[in-house]
Amino acid sequence: MQRKKHKQDKQAKDSEPWDNRTRIVVYGQAFLLLLVWLMTLGRLIGENFWNATHNEERLNAIVANEETSKEIVHMIKTFFLSYFKKRFLLFFPHILGAILWWNLYFLQLIPAIRQKYRRFHRILGRVLMVCALAQTVSGAGLAYMGNSSTIKIISYLLAVAVFYCVFNAWYFAAIKKDISKHKYWSMRLVGYLQTIALQRFCMILLVVSHRTGWLGLYPVYSIDDATTIEKIFNDSFSFSFVLAMLGTEWYLAGYYGWNETKGDEQ
Ligand code: HEM
Repeated sequence: MQRKKHKQDKQAKDSEPWDNRTRIVVYGQAFLLLLVWLMTLGRLIGENFWNATHNEERLNAIVANEETSKEIVHMIKTFFLSYFKKRFLLFFPHILGAILWWNLYFLQLIPAIRQKYRRFHRILGRVLMVCALAQTVSGAGLAYMGNSSTIKIISYLLAVAVFYCVFNAWYFAAIKKDISKHKYWSMRLVGYLQTIALQRFCMILLVVSHRTGWLGLYPVYSIDDATTIEKIFNDSFSFSFVLAMLGTEWYLAGYYGWNETKGDEQ
């Protein structure tokens, strides 16, 4: 009886009109999905990311072209060429995982799907759990084999955070059968993993800041400056990591009503 009442209350809550917090998060995630398709997945698939030799030749040709900007040449030599050389064994599964995660994770958050298709939710949950773990291992490996200390620090911290959330989300669903706590840890996991999509957004903001001088973050833009872009790329990782953590805290506090001030005065 009590369980039925709880379920009815929950369904009533889920069908309430969205508040501003929910709107920001839902539209924000839709925006990030569009962004990762435009900036990352579309590009990688268009460039046949599975074909290392083709991409190595393509990038070498861009580097050899005298008209290519110094910034792009520097980024290719410092980061991107190694995706298709020494880091390819990690890069390839990492991109397959990225396609899976970005296109499927949000289905787990839609209340109607969770309620109507429980079996689907459970199966997809397992697939995404393995995907998050595999992404974390390959991501930490990519960082380890890269040459940026900032990306290494952020990636190792993100790896610990993701492992901790995956473990708790699994433990409370599979062992304790405590769905409220499972939901809490799953939302936290999704929030932390927004770091990766937000990195693209932060990169755009920082490039705009560099070009316009906005906030005075970087030296004045010059076409002869090849290395500030590397700093921007590193900064975009720290920026997005903190943004994802703060966003997650803000969302969860609101979700559980812990930032409501009405009626708190004693
Ligand atoms: C499910 C979540 C994840 C997705 C969707 C994802 C997606 C991607 C994509 C698409 C790239 C290629 C970059 C590009 O071509 O633009 C990439 C690179 C990378 N990812 Fe992930 N990733 C995820 C999780 C992680 C995690 C958890 C870590 C850290 C533990 C990580 C660390 C890295 C690193 C270090 C690189 C290479 C950066 C470089 O040195 O150029 N990723 N990721």
